[in-house]
Amino acid sequence: MRRIRKYGEEILRKRSEEVKDINDNILKLIKSMKETLISVKGIGLSAVQVGILKRIFIAYNKENSDLITVINPEIIENKGEKIDLEGCLSFPEIYFSINRAEKVTIKGLNEKGKEIVIEGEEVMARCFQHEIDHLNGILIIDYASEEEKKFYKEKLDNLLKNKK
Ligand code: CO
Repeated sequence: MRRIRKYGEEILRKRSEEVKDINDNILKLIKSMKETLISVKGIGLSAVQVGILKRIFIAYNKENSDLITVINPEIIENKGEKIDLEGCLSFPEIYFSINRAEKVTIKGLNEKGKEIVIEGEEVMARCFQHEIDHLNGILIIDYASEEEKKFYKEKLDNLLKNKK
């Protein structure tokens, strides 16, 4: 179980590095990310959110209870668009309305280093785009309107005030 970095912590704005070697440290990191994601009942978690700047994310598909690990993910196709409320473990109790592609296909590596291609729809499509944003230092607040930021001003200010 690892501490989840919150909005205001500088690391969340950094670009994560490509994983070149899936060694024991990387596998340990992935295991701890899975435990963390399950314990907080989240949908997605990127390595940067637990303080490690590596291009890795975990997604939990509630429909089939599948826990997906993607290393060095890339979007290779996207279709349609949809606006929906979106949260983030780094922004507790805050939801912004964000326009995302409705379907995405991503590719990357699994824990064994094998290339995988995954199609995501709805929640999973949103999750994949959100997690890949994290790996590039992009956060949900970057999509928020001024009204939304005003609405959550107190919560956002508290996060900045309490940053570690
Ligand atoms: Co997030």
